[in-house]
Amino acid sequence: MTTPAIETILTEDRRYPPPEDFAAQANAQPDIYERSFDEFWETEGRERLSWFEPFTQLYEWKPPYAKWFLGGKTNVTYNCVDRHVERGLGDKVAYHWEGEPEGERRDVTFAELQRETTRLANALKTLGVGKGTAVGIYMGMVPEAAIAMLACARIGAPHTVVFGGFSADSLSDRLHDMECEVLITQDEAWRRGTTVPLKRTADEALREAPSVRSVVVLRRTGNDVPMTEGRDFWWHELVEGEPDDPASCPCEPMDSEDLLYLLYTSGTTAKPKGIAHTTAGYLCGVATTHHYIFDVEPDSVYWCAADIGWVTGHSYIVYGPLCNGTTGVLYEGTPDFPDKDRWWEIVERYEVDILYTAPTAIRAHMKWGHEHAEKHDLSSLRLLGSVGEPINPEAWEWYRRHIGGGRTPVVDTWWQTETGMIMISPLPGITTTKPGSATKPFPGVDAAVYDESGNEVGPGGGGYLVLRRPWPAMLRGIYKDDERYAETYWSKYGDVYFAGDGARIDEDGDFWLLGRVDDVMNVSGHRISTIEVESALVDHPRVAEAAVCGRNDAQTGQAIVAYVTLKGGEDGSVEMLEELRNHVARKIGPIAKPANIVFTPELPKTRSGKIMRRLLRDVAEQRTLGDTTTLADPGVVEEIRDRAAAEATEE
Ligand code: WTA
Repeated sequence: MTTPAIETILTEDRRYPPPEDFAAQANAQPDIYERSFDEFWETEGRERLSWFEPFTQLYEWKPPYAKWFLGGKTNVTYNCVDRHVERGLGDKVAYHWEGEPEGERRDVTFAELQRETTRLANALKTLGVGKGTAVGIYMGMVPEAAIAMLACARIGAPHTVVFGGFSADSLSDRLHDMECEVLITQDEAWRRGTTVPLKRTADEALREAPSVRSVVVLRRTGNDVPMTEGRDFWWHELVEGEPDDPASCPCEPMDSEDLLYLLYTSGTTAKPKGIAHTTAGYLCGVATTHHYIFDVEPDSVYWCAADIGWVTGHSYIVYGPLCNGTTGVLYEGTPDFPDKDRWWEIVERYEVDILYTAPTAIRAHMKWGHEHAEKHDLSSLRLLGSVGEPINPEAWEWYRRHIGGGRTPVVDTWWQTETGMIMISPLPGITTTKPGSATKPFPGVDAAVYDESGNEVGPGGGGYLVLRRPWPAMLRGIYKDDERYAETYWSKYGDVYFAGDGARIDEDGDFWLLGRVDDVMNVSGHRISTIEVESALVDHPRVAEAAVCGRNDAQTGQAIVAYVTLKGGEDGSVEMLEELRNHVARKIGPIAKPANIVFTPELPKTRSGKIMRRLLRDVAEQRTLGDTTTLADPGVVEEIRDRAAAEATEE
């Protein structure tokens, strides 16, 4: 018998069939799974997008490169903005924007989006930006960030958005790699009641990014920032006098395969990869998944609470929802400013019906307590979504119960910057959901789990998640690095895409994501995924969050170390420690009992909220942790924090 690539130890029996009334009205009905791959994407491509010239071939697959909708010409901004206005939806709200300082609110309609996008596009042209000119965007969560992206797409200028929390080095690396000629930024951003000096950081970055000729600066906070004569322009001055009539700047006809944007993702190795997404396939992929998975209705108020700087923001705040003409919410600040009920106040105010966020945010709300949500009327919510990490079943349950009122379906959506669109997810009117499972591949997606040697693993087995057919929104490569593209995604199994995530399939054919394969632990020859042990810990009523990693152990190969945050900022104790070890043993078996537990008030996370297990591993390796117990050690905790901070800036 061969050892499975990853073993399954945690089982979850709770089941939630879709509510009947939801199922009856849902955008996706059961026959969607009967549609063939070609027919599905052909129809979605023709009907969901508007074309200047129709495509003549659905796709071409020359591994590892795919092209979609060949021969077609279209424009992303035309699809996301202009066509809605032409159809009489100009007065519909595209974004309810909520600034962080209280009382700052603004509704941006599709007509306004069109005018603002046109003016900025005209202004960018005066700076010499045209089809193919690379533009960097380094902004906070303001409507102008979306406007900047759409203005670029309008004239065929590919963009790279750099998350506003990144350092000067990260920004200059990206601007330099893409050879951006223009940077769009803002004076400062608001965050948790203080200002983030975006322009100053940009100035520092620009010293190392000589390709940037001009900088456009949005005035947001109004505080003084240095401006370099001849290089820097205030947004409001630059667009002054520019026409806002769409005919003054027609949407550039783009080939289906023209570059829309690069988004840099750091992953585990040092140099960030410029993930390339093109025009038509990407737009079709994100709009189609958005329509069926989030079950958007014409009068929906949809809120994806991610940052525009991540792929989730690109695909499910900007391009997917706007292509579908959906009204969205855009919130500038943090969830705990001025208080921990800010999100719930926003849901109540705008009567949000669809909320999409990440497990890390859900666990933060769990830690703060459900009383904050209880202060508000959340009855408008119909559907909840999760993305970014495996969601612990207890966090899923909490989300459904305390935010969704025990009524709403929860869709756990698996995808990556590289996939561009959601790949594995429940369809909320069809799928019986299970807390912790992303359930089924989306129609027109071929996902499977393989063992080490490339055999498909059947029900009950664990292994590596792969994608066997190309999909419209798939990455078209890593910018300027074909070799790394082939090596990273296509070398393990030949013509099959290797996602780098562990997964298992249960007896119903549902997928359970097990985290990055680099995180899998090997304890006495058993390959155990970190998420299952973490979920067993989070299952304990007093645990808010847990991160697990392996450290070298002479006897067992690796021993399990757990970092645990208790609810309400409680301190750990020897009793608690024993209780948790026994809890894990009861939930999933003695093999998974952590050798050490470290209580810590916070876990180290990446800027996008993912737990940094690699760092915890380093910390665990460097410390001689006692054989059984380690109590809260401020030294360890500080070290985790300091190093997390250092790494996050390096990223
Ligand atoms: C993880 C975010 C489990 C996974 C859209 C993937 C998930 C990586 C899920 C991509 C999920 C994302 N369940 N794991 N629902 N969603 N992941 O590029 O490890 O920031 O490979 O894209 O996040 O992260 P990225």
